[in-house]
Parts: sequence; structure tokens; C-alpha cells
Amino acid sequence: MAVPTAKSKRQRKIILVDVSVVPEQRASWSGKLGFVLAAAGSAVGLGTIWRFPYLAAHYGGGTFIFVFFLFMLTLGVALLVLEIALGRNTGKSIIMAFASFGKQYRFVGMLTAAVPFIIASYYGVVGGWVTRYMFAYAAGMTKELADGGDNFGAFISDGPQSVAFMLLFGAITFIIVALGVNGGVERANLIMMPALILVSLLIGIFTLTQPGALDGLRYFLVPDFSKFSLELLIAALGQTFFGLSLGAATMVTYGSYMKKDVSVTSSALQTTGTTLGISLLAGLMIIPATFATLGSANAVAKNSGPSLMFLVIPEVFEKFGRIATGIGFVFFLLVMFAALTSMISLVEACVSILQDTLAWKRRQALLVTVVVLSSAGIIVTLGYSSLSFIQPLGEGSTILDFLDFMTSSVMMPLGGLLMCLFFGWRKKPAVLIDEVRLSGEFKRAGLWGVMIKYVAPILLVAIFITSVLKTFGIISF
Ligand code: TRP
Repeated sequence: MAVPTAKSKRQRKIILVDVSVVPEQRASWSGKLGFVLAAAGSAVGLGTIWRFPYLAAHYGGGTFIFVFFLFMLTLGVALLVLEIALGRNTGKSIIMAFASFGKQYRFVGMLTAAVPFIIASYYGVVGGWVTRYMFAYAAGMTKELADGGDNFGAFISDGPQSVAFMLLFGAITFIIVALGVNGGVERANLIMMPALILVSLLIGIFTLTQPGALDGLRYFLVPDFSKFSLELLIAALGQTFFGLSLGAATMVTYGSYMKKDVSVTSSALQTTGTTLGISLLAGLMIIPATFATLGSANAVAKNSGPSLMFLVIPEVFEKFGRIATGIGFVFFLLVMFAALTSMISLVEACVSILQDTLAWKRRQALLVTVVVLSSAGIIVTLGYSSLSFIQPLGEGSTILDFLDFMTSSVMMPLGGLLMCLFFGWRKKPAVLIDEVRLSGEFKRAGLWGVMIKYVAPILLVAIFITSVLKTFGIISF
């Protein structure tokens, strides 16, 4: 054996040093199921279980559902394919994904890169409320929660208590993300998503067997096209975006972890299908039971604002008597799972943006994300107590309302629009079509191109303009 010379020793050293600066290798989902569960986990969240049923109740049930399905299966799937293909093609999160088409395009991703940070700041707050309800049911506070809103009001205006629950919800998310893409994110979805589907089926069947529920079911499902309106159209479009986590960097990041042999089109379809299925189940859990309790469609529509979940649902459950506490606990556990899997996707998107853009290590990116999101979350939470004088959207509005408006109505449609214009007109859809074809057929590529070039931009400009005008009271409908 040759005695190592000074030179070879030095070479060895150099190699060792080199190894230590090699960037961390990009993780990937273990297979298609891993991707679809994670993507569906991101999509199915408070938007699906809380927002969708109250929007459906508000806009006349079946008519809204019909339009929503139409948007999800056309625009929704098309944009999902775009985001996944963009992520997989570049192997990067949003800013660097655009930068890989030329440095000058970085800015296209910048606007969208801010979205997961902002959404996560307020999403965690509502996640904290859900966590608190779950614990309150576990402690048997069934009667107190059904007191028409006093308990809820007292809770959200109690700064320290609501901050504590927000941080608890955040901490669970951060721990899962810290465990990595496979060991944390993928595994958590593998456990929580099937549990969520099973439990929502069980609760759905149970509430449908309650007296009076069938009238509610009819109201929920049968379309009445006289209820059709421009406002309904905008709401359904907004729900498609929020519900599928589009225009927010999340699906690009999840796509960047997808292996080249997993089909983009069928993954996008399965993700959308799962989201639609759980949206319907959530509606079945909530609307017929609420209908049976409140007695009429009008009463449901009147109570169909955001308060539906935290005020009306506990009242509905209380009527179930002895099993009320159990049902309440299981229901809020399920909502918490849904919220967690979405929050995980938001945090993962933040981490991968910092990691890719600033060439940081995952740990460092996570640490900064934790600090930023926790601080922002505290401010949003206190918007209901000591900071309630901040009312950015006018009398009675909160910081949370403002951030929700900025992201859902302004930044997400705008980000989506930029993405469509970029791949429809600047770069031509062929780049992404080729990417999709790497892993299977793309029979509807032509139609997809038309969606990206024409249909999506027109619809997105429409939501953007109308929702901004409406918020500032320039138009009303
Ligand atoms: N889609 C989730 C829900 O319905 C929330 C969500 C997660 C989200 N990631 C997102 C919304 C990105 C918009 C953008 O609750």
C-alpha cells in the first residue's frame, strides 16, 4: 500500500471540503400516492371544510356547486398542471423556477413568493381556533361552545389564550416540516388524509340520518338557476383558486419534488377529484344538519358566513344529546387534520423559497420561517384583541380580513395571471407540454394551451377587477 504523500493528503482534504459545500440534494416523493396525498392535503383545508359549505349555503346550494365543479374541472385542473409541470421542469420553487428561464423573469415569481408567507400568517390563527375547539370538546365543554357565540367571542378576544393555541398549531406544523419532505410531510399526509376521508364519510352518513336532513340535502344539491349571479361566479372562481392552493407557490414547490416518471395529468386530476369529493362530503356533514336544526333555507343562508363553523355547528351538535361531545371532538379533530396538512404545504413552500433563492440550508430556512410566521401570527391574532383598532378594510374589519383579501382577491389571481401570460405568450406552452409528456400522454394539450392563453387570463382579470371594485364599494351586487 502506498504511503500517502503530502499531495494526496491535500487532495483528500480538498475532496472532503468539497463534499461539505455540495448543496443538499432535492428530496422527492416516494411515488404517485405520496404526491397526490400531499397535494390533496394542501388543497383540502379550511377552504374546503369551512369556506365551501358556507359559500354553497350562501349562493343557493346546487347552483353554486354546479359552477364550482365546472371551474375546478377546467380552469382548476389546467392551472394545477401548469404549476406542477413548472416545479418539476425546473426542480425549483417559484422564484428560481422563473429565474431559470432568464434572470430578468425572477420578478414574475417574487409576487407569488410572498403569498405563502402571508397566508400562513393568518391560516395558523384559524388553525389555532380549531385546535382550541378540539380541546374544548375533549374537556366536555359542549354546552359552553353552543352558547350562540359568547364563548367564541371571549376566546378570540383573549390575547394570551388565543396566541397560545396559534403557537401550538404552528409548532405541530413546524415539527412535521422539520422532519423533512419524506419523513415529515409525506408521512403526515399518509396518515392524516385517509383518516380525514374516513371520518368525514362517517359523520356525513350520520348527519344525513337525522330527522329533517333530507330537505337540507335537496337544498344543498338541487340547482336553482334563478340564483345564478355574477357574484356567484366570482365566488366560485375564488374558491377554485383558494381550494386548490393555486397562485401561491405551494403546488410549484410540491411539483418540484415530483419524480419524472409520475404522470402530471393524472396526479392533477386525482388531486382535483379528491378535493371535490371532500368538498361535497363537508357540505353533506354541515348543510343538512344545519338545515334540520335551523329549520329553513333562509335561516341557513343567513347563518352561512364564516361564523357557521364556530357558532352554528356547536349548536347543531348540541342537539345530538349524549353523543354531542364525541361528535364535536371528532369533527374538530378532522378539521384540524385538514388545516394541518394545508399549513404544512404553506410552510414547506416558504422554506423551499428561502432555501432555493438564498442558497440557504434547509435548517436555516426553516428557522427563519418559524420566526417570521410566529411573529406575524401573533400580530394577526392580537387583531381580535389589543390590536383590534387596526381595521384596514373599514369599520369592524380585522387584520386577518385584510390579509385574506390581499392574497385571495389580489395577489393570487394576479400571480396566476402572470404565470398564464408567461407560459401562454412569452415562453409558449410547449416547454411545459414537453415536461408533462415525459411521464405519459397529454391528449388535451391543445385545449390546455387555449385555457392558459385565453380562458384563464380573461377569467382572472374579471375576478381581480370585480373583487377589488366591490371591496372599495365602487360596485355592489
Ligand atoms: N387550499 C387550502 C384550503 O383550502 C389552503 C391553502 C394551502 C392555500 N396552501 C395554499 C390557499 C396556497 C391558497 C394558496 O384551506
